[in-house]
Amino acid sequence: MTDDNTPPGQTPAALTCTGLTYAFGDGAKAVDGLDLSVASGEVFGLLGPNGAGKTTAIRCVTTLLPVPAGMVRVFGHDVAADRMGVRRLLSYVPQQLSADSSLTGRENVSLFARVFDVPRKERAGRVAEALEAVGLTEAADRMAGTYSGGMVRRLELAQALVSSPRLLILDEPTIGLDPIARTSVWEHIMAVRAASGMTVLVTTHYMDEAEQYCDRVALMHKGRIRALDTPHRLTDDLRERRGDGSSPTLEDVFRDVAGSGLDEEGGEFRDVRRTRRTAARVG
Ligand SMILES: Nc1ncnc2c1ncn2[C@@H]1O[C@H](COP(=O)(O)OP(=O)(O)O)[C@@H](O)[C@H]1O
Ligand SMILES: [Mg+2]
Repeated sequence: MTDDNTPPGQTPAALTCTGLTYAFGDGAKAVDGLDLSVASGEVFGLLGPNGAGKTTAIRCVTTLLPVPAGMVRVFGHDVAADRMGVRRLLSYVPQQLSADSSLTGRENVSLFARVFDVPRKERAGRVAEALEAVGLTEAADRMAGTYSGGMVRRLELAQALVSSPRLLILDEPTIGLDPIARTSVWEHIMAVRAASGMTVLVTTHYMDEAEQYCDRVALMHKGRIRALDTPHRLTDDLRERRGDGSSPTLEDVFRDVAGSGLDEEGGEFRDVRRTRRTAARVG
């Protein structure tokens, strides 16, 4: 049963946030009146520099933080009123690494299958499928401690996939990876999405990835959404407004909507640019 106003026969939105607001102890609003709706089957990117409020917003959606103000629904289920119902529908891969290096890849995924109540008879098959989906079949019986950074990220993806979520939430899934590993992570995400029709909500501060893989993106800065549309429409829009024949990137759009604030206090954003240049050299 859903409890929103979805017309009969129509799939409710995978995620709806209305006026979501969250403040930590110091009173500053980490998330400040967030409104967004993610359609079922969409790959949606929540973008912004460090400190924008992406992780906080996502932790409210996943029920790890309460929703003190506003409303969040996952496939029509109110996150505040039906936490268990929401948890059954989604998988969350946090930013901090969560795989156990002293277990094999297969053991790590099996652990998640047990925790998420995958029926015992289906477990071995579903674990093997999840490992296959992320390209880890051959490495499945090696200790996760021997994996590269990209393989660990794909292992975490397999852990999230083994419960067959309808909404997969990934917080900075490619942070710190080299360009080849980043592409590999994304290709596995896109392949699983195509095969299962699941919805993907991803945060990233890599604008180039968002431009390439996300159906729509929300540009977030200081707890608020500054722009929301397809990457294409956002960049086209800025090109028209500029009218100087240049081809702006999503990063240019971000600078345009966030204003000069980014350059003054956006040390983190400049660091990201530096990381990207370094990564490009390494690649
Ligand atoms: N546990 C916490 N206690 C206090 N402030 C926090 C905490 N976590 C995050 N913040 C603050 O909330 C804001 C948003 O942080 P976060 O949601 O982590 O942003 P992002 O994921 O976009 O980098 C930042 O100003 C950050 O310093
Ligand atoms: Mg974060």
